[in-house]
Amino acid sequence: MRNSDPIRLPGRLPLVPSDLAQHWVLNPEIDFLNHGSFGATPRVVLEAQREFLQQLERDPISFLAPERSLLPRLDQVRALLADLVHAPDQDIAFVRNATEGVNAVLRSFPFRSGDQVLVTDHGYNACNNAARFAAERFGASVVHAEVPFPIESPDAVLQAVEEKINGRTRLLLIDHVTSPTGLVFPLAELIALAHQRGVRVLVDGAHAAGMLQVDLSQLDPDYYTANHHKWLCGPKSSAFLYVRREFQPEIRPTSISHGANRDSYGVSRFLAEFNWLGTYDPSPLLAMPRALEFLRTLVPGGIEGLMRHNRQLALSARDHLLTALGQPAPSPPEMIGSLASVPLPIHGQNIDSKLETLRGRLAGEFRIEVPIFRLANGVACVRISAQAYNDLGQYDRLAEALVRCGCGKKG
Ligand SMILES: Cc1ncc(COP(=O)(O)O)c(C=O)c1O
Repeated sequence: MRNSDPIRLPGRLPLVPSDLAQHWVLNPEIDFLNHGSFGATPRVVLEAQREFLQQLERDPISFLAPERSLLPRLDQVRALLADLVHAPDQDIAFVRNATEGVNAVLRSFPFRSGDQVLVTDHGYNACNNAARFAAERFGASVVHAEVPFPIESPDAVLQAVEEKINGRTRLLLIDHVTSPTGLVFPLAELIALAHQRGVRVLVDGAHAAGMLQVDLSQLDPDYYTANHHKWLCGPKSSAFLYVRREFQPEIRPTSISHGANRDSYGVSRFLAEFNWLGTYDPSPLLAMPRALEFLRTLVPGGIEGLMRHNRQLALSARDHLLTALGQPAPSPPEMIGSLASVPLPIHGQNIDSKLETLRGRLAGEFRIEVPIFRLANGVACVRISAQAYNDLGQYDRLAEALVRCGCGKKG
């Protein structure tokens, strides 16, 4: 039987399958606890995307030629997203994903020989690779701040970063929400710290939009990129890149195209270039108004209500897992959004093959989709995601499966 009560916010969560799951096309035979990796797009958003694709294919030139109908349509989407993250429209460009946003900034950044880019060991591998690639071409280097996990407080992040800032640090590449550890970093304080030391800040906010309230006017980063396809539930390959106005002339997209010398493609060269990288499918971006409308009406309280709901679900699910596994909380609740990583008692030699076996059993035997990582510091973790379609029973099944795979309390 499904619960037909409206969802209660916050704190009291249903133990029965979420009624909200009907809005997604996810396979009901799989406990999908990995919204974090690629997101999951609701039915109505997929329908909106399909409709745009059909319009495009009915009349490709008038739909895609930028000056005809594409640019005004992109500007409408831009206005909605700029409003969501409290930034001026002209400072928001579109990219295909956060990796592309991070690459555009890093590969345009005016590095000089001897400069340092500071990243953390909780940073996303693809983005840390991009930092290395961009820096090394100019004789610059990448320095890693070691953030502990388990972690006692957000201050530990500030301390780890501060220790590695020196006179050669030019850029801090920092996550808003980390990928392997699912931690919400103290971003406002990190940005203030870097700015006090004369360091620019590029924020990888891949997970943040839709999980947290992102207020760029308050945070004041130099560059900020976020995916629409994760917690804003947009179709895949849709993301934004914010660049502080004074730095926009420096930042070029990863492909140089018509916008480099065609003013009519945008109100600035920054927007003109990012508005057109060559022929592409704009339907994921154009479906974003439908995604925002969907999220605003899904639960009482709109998007903020949904964020509270997902956070509460993540915290409750983490408690269930920690109890079953006999583990203490690895991070304070204030560092949790809608992702949570829990250490697993898997150590020693052959750790990677033990993790591979566990992944295989969870997916094959228990039909649970959840990521298992080994962190840079060697700690093995399972990371849960909490989205409206999930319910606590799914995390209880994960806990039971982990116990049966030997990850439970000893004795
Ligand atoms: C922190 C972080 N940055 C960047 C990415 C990359 O996202 P995408 O593959 O959409 O570029 C991810 C993906 O999970 C992520 O977690």
